[in-house]
Amino acid sequence: MAANRIYLDHAATSFPKPAAVTERMVQYLTKVGSNVNRGVYGSAFEAEELLYSLRQAVTSLFGGTDCRYTAFTANVTTALNMLIKGLLRPGDHVLVSAMEHNAVMRPLNQLADRGVRYDVIPADSCGNMLPEEAESMLRPETRAVISTHASNVCGTVQPIAALGELCRRHDLLLIVDSAQTAGLFPLHMEEMHLAALAFTGHKTLLGPQGTGGFLLRPDLVGEMEPLIAGGTGSISHLERMPDFMPDRFEAGTPNMPGLYGLYGALEARSEQSRSAALAHELELTARFLEGLRAIPRIRLVGREDTISRAPVVSVQIREGELAEAARLLDSRWGIQTRVGLHCAPLAHRTLGTYPQGTLRFSFGEGNTAEETDVCLEALEEICRTLPLRP
Ligand code: ALA
Repeated sequence: MAANRIYLDHAATSFPKPAAVTERMVQYLTKVGSNVNRGVYGSAFEAEELLYSLRQAVTSLFGGTDCRYTAFTANVTTALNMLIKGLLRPGDHVLVSAMEHNAVMRPLNQLADRGVRYDVIPADSCGNMLPEEAESMLRPETRAVISTHASNVCGTVQPIAALGELCRRHDLLLIVDSAQTAGLFPLHMEEMHLAALAFTGHKTLLGPQGTGGFLLRPDLVGEMEPLIAGGTGSISHLERMPDFMPDRFEAGTPNMPGLYGLYGALEARSEQSRSAALAHELELTARFLEGLRAIPRIRLVGREDTISRAPVVSVQIREGELAEAARLLDSRWGIQTRVGLHCAPLAHRTLGTYPQGTLRFSFGEGNTAEETDVCLEALEEICRTLPLRP
């Protein structure tokens, strides 16, 4: 292993986390330790208060109005499964973006086996959705549009506000997967006409793994069937799930150490520091994109600029083995990347990189211009020496 580590896999999970994440988790594990909604003693009340503050902070971050309609889950995959399986019924038709992750496509295909139909909204070769095409794809039974905010493969940001306007005009539910953007790019439940917004804690929100959730438009609570049922610490005399929020979608013991950590992550960042982080990460992305142009054999996948993109860059190496390139980057330079299909085969089909996949570099707040340059030098050397595929 190389002595220094250059972590460029923030799209998989952000690292390092702010110190406040660890501090809050240690506080919970060493001083609080109690479950919520079940105990009538001081440390349980303390945990409940923090959970309430976290719920409020997450709700206001995403432009929600009432924090009861923010439910916590283990991750964005669970949130998306709950939303997709809870809101859609046999006979419904759905439109999805051409850049979806399997966290959307797998539950959707499970529902396709049970009578839900879907179509993919076309995108250009960089993964930019063509929202004008969506209108002509609507059917009388179209109920929802599902879109990722930014692609985990190449960073392309989708026009969520335009989609929201379309959904408002046609009375459709817009469900957004913010896995790559939450807390970094602005998202607003009301202004963007979102029916639901799914988020994960451990990527751009800088929290720990095992945290996530969704915001739900209040009028949809009764329409959405809970995927997970169980104890909530409320109305325990009933053997049916509560009809009120957030309990309706929060069965089972929550991940309190993780949620304390997520609270620490939100405490550590102001709105100002969020936009500074985004500006810094996009600056590094622009520097990297510029450097890539000079490297022979590199084929950039996705946009060539930083307009409407998250700090995620994918490349292919002509006639070169990407897995071997990723191994060399790590073993010789300590550069950590992700290679393959990134759990998003639909996005790779759209980008023309299926089934080979791509080598992905994703930038975070702690990365520097020097690290970016080391990465470019390493790629240049790899492209010069990597054997041609037989
Ligand atoms: N979906 C995450 C990624 O793209 C895990 O790496």
